[in-house]
Amino acid sequence: LHVIHISVEMAPIAKVGGLGDVVTSLSRAVQDLNHNVDILLPKYDCLNLSHVKDFHYHNNFFWGGTEIKVWRGKVEGLSVYFLEPQNGFFHVGCVYGRANDAERFGFFCHAALEFLLQNGFHPDIIHCHDWSSAPVAWLFKENYVHYGLSKAQVVFTIHNLDFGANFIAKAMQHSDKATTVSPTYSREVAGHPAVAPHLHKFHGIINGIDPDIWDPYNDNCIPVPYTSDNVVEGKRASKEALQLRLGLEKANLPLVGIITRLTHQKGIHLIKHAIWRTLERGGQIVLLGSAPDPRIQNDFVSLANQLHSTHNARARLCLSYDEPLSHLIYAGADFILVPSIFEPCGLTQLTAMRYGSIPVVRKTGGLYDTVFDVDHDKDRAQAEGLAPNGFGFDGADAGGVDYALNRAISAWYEGRDWFNSLCKKVMEQDWSWNRPALDYLELYHAARKSL
Ligand code: ADP
Ligand code: GLC
Repeated sequence: LHVIHISVEMAPIAKVGGLGDVVTSLSRAVQDLNHNVDILLPKYDCLNLSHVKDFHYHNNFFWGGTEIKVWRGKVEGLSVYFLEPQNGFFHVGCVYGRANDAERFGFFCHAALEFLLQNGFHPDIIHCHDWSSAPVAWLFKENYVHYGLSKAQVVFTIHNLDFGANFIAKAMQHSDKATTVSPTYSREVAGHPAVAPHLHKFHGIINGIDPDIWDPYNDNCIPVPYTSDNVVEGKRASKEALQLRLGLEKANLPLVGIITRLTHQKGIHLIKHAIWRTLERGGQIVLLGSAPDPRIQNDFVSLANQLHSTHNARARLCLSYDEPLSHLIYAGADFILVPSIFEPCGLTQLTAMRYGSIPVVRKTGGLYDTVFDVDHDKDRAQAEGLAPNGFGFDGADAGGVDYALNRAISAWYEGRDWFNSLCKKVMEQDWSWNRPALDYLELYHAARKSL
């Protein structure tokens, strides 16, 4: 198959959240199964070009009276075309956050289809994502389906229904197949007006992570490479490096990490509560969080200042986006806490497990599908052919988070051997794209059959 992703995010060059990770890692997995994959991305001024190999000017074309320059390069082994409209749409800001985002991304989607048409592409699948490249689905059906691109089928993936519901509704209507990023989230949103009329073509496929990009045996950001065979020594070295780097007390205490966008979705009040609970239980807490909303940012700056005076040796809030630091936290933490109010899939719990950190999660969406509580979910885990791998809670109040966190921290204090074997076990679980990429291929083939 020839699959073309039209997306506004791609890790690691233009990543805001998990959407960027998924575009790259799903594409790599499908390419590894011997299919052709190309990615079309806006050429933002803020692109991290150090990760683009063989970056060069490709050609230009005109659409809607605007010249669009096209650049080409390889990112993580994937072929990427970068579209640079000369109207300056992508010369400002970085990915999202402009007042005219819908207009900018709508223009990009239309230009992307025009580029494919004018350059004689004949993809089997055009895959678009979230509200930001949703217009691809209807622009294709309205303007391109009868022309050179006619054999293409459009697949649309919802990563987060919280944003752009109208765009998502329209893309759901016009796409040939639609997915979201976990089976549980697909059930949670099944009654949503944007989704409900289209359940016959809607599938929940769990995300994976790329085991080469997230690999504690081959990671420049951590001091000692490790696998499940030397997980205890490897994680101890990373914990010490993390403590040193952040100026925390060098002590063997249970360390809880949180790596997140700081938005309502991620359970801000539960995160704050968990910080205090961890400190009360004698643990260390490290939060790496980026807050797009300045009010939330200010709130956490105040909390950071307060903790600086009361718990400087055991708490650090890093209020930034910092990819290398995230690697060190995944490796150095004992637990990664994800108390989301809703979570379509969630990648941090999967990455945590790849680094032998135990996830502590609120049981919603993809968190429910991937984390199986050591005390409560043995049967559910067994049905998936897995061992229990973490701690979970249900409510959205402090009592819920306490219930999971208290058990997790107690397990750390009480059962060192048991705890170490749990770390080893979670590292050995396969949360890569091995299985889900096959599900996507089946879906792509099913879309083609309906031609
Ligand atoms: P979402 O896409 O809703 O933000 P996911 O769990 O799917 O949530 O993906 C988040 C991705 O962004 C993960 O790869 C995580 O490591 C990364 N991430 C989140 N916040 C930060 C941060 N402050 N610094 C570095 N990486 C971050
Ligand atoms: C969204 C969701 C997150 C998911 C990611 C990748 O950002 O919030 O749960 O993992 O997309 O699909």
